[in-house]
Amino acid sequence: MPHPDHEKNRYSWNQVVELHYNHLGYRTKEFLDGTSHLKRIELEALGDVAGKSMLHLLCHFGLDSLSWVRKGAEVTGIDISEKAIEFANKLKGETKLEAEFIRSDVLDLIGVIDKKFDIVFQSYGTHIWISDIERWAEVVSHYLKPGGTFFIVDSHPVEVLFNAPTWDYFTRDPERTVNPADYIDRDFKGNGEYVEWQHPLSEILNALISAGLTIEHVGEYNHGYYQVDENWYSDKDRYWYPPGGPTAYPLLLSIKARKM
Ligand SMILES: C[S@@+](CC[C@H](N)C(=O)[O-])C[C@H]1O[C@@H](n2cnc3c(N)ncnc32)[C@H](O)[C@@H]1O
Repeated sequence: MPHPDHEKNRYSWNQVVELHYNHLGYRTKEFLDGTSHLKRIELEALGDVAGKSMLHLLCHFGLDSLSWVRKGAEVTGIDISEKAIEFANKLKGETKLEAEFIRSDVLDLIGVIDKKFDIVFQSYGTHIWISDIERWAEVVSHYLKPGGTFFIVDSHPVEVLFNAPTWDYFTRDPERTVNPADYIDRDFKGNGEYVEWQHPLSEILNALISAGLTIEHVGEYNHGYYQVDENWYSDKDRYWYPPGGPTAYPLLLSIKARKM
């Protein structure tokens, strides 16, 4: 049975994929000209991926997936949105790169792909869409080969407390946004709903540990991955800062873990 709130998100994500594909903020044109969409944190964390198999969870329209392909990885990307998969395949066709893109809710993935991977990767704007972090961690663990690496870089769970001080860090209730604005094109208003979940850091780490992973490194960063407000500025690595510079609290979190 599809998760009803995930299906709401699927509907809303379907509305923005083409907008993102064509928006300057996603730099698709530069990617088609041969650049990488990957950022410093994941590049440093994963190092040389040549010849390694990678499962990219919540891959959107495949910019990062295909960037890893350009670095020599064999990539399978999954996303709940059929529009995301359609545009990932379009990008794959236009770049003539090899990758496989599959439409699936991440929580329903076990059984959809009959393969294990050297690396499971996930980045920037993902854990908030997952209603059940324990199940998610089981999916991550299921798809890793013994000795395989999981790496995630994403919003730090405390970030919301600074952007929306009334938010409850420990809440189990999802946050619902009807007719959501888009984070890349602020003039766009969807006609659906976004449903997001808050996951305390301990919940994410404990879920990975319970699923059989060994945490090797946790990183916290005083910059973000997108322009939260119009007065935010970016550095050469395309990380974003508020007008006062690096924040006194973490905006990004990374976790590197290994399946033993
Ligand atoms: C912010 S994007 C992914 C991040 C990517 N780094 C980017 O910025 O392009 C979030 C993606 O998660 C996908 N998504 C949301 N909920 C999902 C779920 N339950 N299972 C799989 N994909 C999901 C959306 O369709 C969307 O493409």
